[in-house]
Amino acid sequence: MPISKNRPIRSYVLRQGRLTKFQANGIKLLSPMYLIPFESNTIKWDNIFENKGKKIIEIGFGMGDTTAEIAETLTKSNFIAIDVHPPGVGNLLNKINEKELKNLKIIQYDAVEVLKKMVINKSLDAIHIFFPDPWHKKRHNKRRLIQEPFLELISKKLKKNGYIHIATDWEDYANSIINIFNKNEFYKIKNSNFFKKPSYRPKTKYENRGVNLGHKVWDIIFVKV
Ligand SMILES: C[S@@+](CC[C@H](N)C(=O)[O-])C[C@H]1O[C@@H](n2cnc3c(N)ncnc32)[C@H](O)[C@@H]1O
Repeated sequence: MPISKNRPIRSYVLRQGRLTKFQANGIKLLSPMYLIPFESNTIKWDNIFENKGKKIIEIGFGMGDTTAEIAETLTKSNFIAIDVHPPGVGNLLNKINEKELKNLKIIQYDAVEVLKKMVINKSLDAIHIFFPDPWHKKRHNKRRLIQEPFLELISKKLKKNGYIHIATDWEDYANSIINIFNKNEFYKIKNSNFFKKPSYRPKTKYENRGVNLGHKVWDIIFVKV
């Protein structure tokens, strides 16, 4: 069947990764407690979380170990972590349960759709995106998540002075991110030293892979004006 011209370009490929028994059990037993189903209604943060802390979304948590660590450290903030891959979802559900985290929930869906359909305008204090897929081949660059339409979308969702923190180990992607944010009137740069990692961000799995290949790491933070 020919691929429809209208099919949206996604920033991920859904692979049927094999689930460990632990991950599968996590999904089966813990989803009712910690997974928010995707729907066309907006998220009511105050009904979901016990505290009225900051509202932070993480896009693309991968296996989620870092996500759980951040939520464990920043106890006064609330986190909704989004990814599509079942093994990571299973792993993070187990982490939330083990660490008894009250400030972290998961949505298993395309984050672009979640932002469009489930997030109220001017409601987010922050967005974290750590090591987005670089799609480094020229012909794949169009699949990159962080492009102008995405900046337009999140500029609606962030509160004034809310921030977006992106970390990447791909120089070409880092430069493209910095350029498009600098050109956009809705953002101003927060950190001028991109090689200084904020203390709340532990090293991630993908980061370690990049560092082992000799890559530098950029932590890029822009604030919504
Ligand atoms: C390179 S991995 C990085 C994972 C993790 N942050 C780390 O540093 O180890 C990127 C992740 O982003 C997820 N992802 C990409 N586009 C997404 C989207 N539109 N919605 C949800 N997740 C997405 C992928 O499924 C993948 O798990």
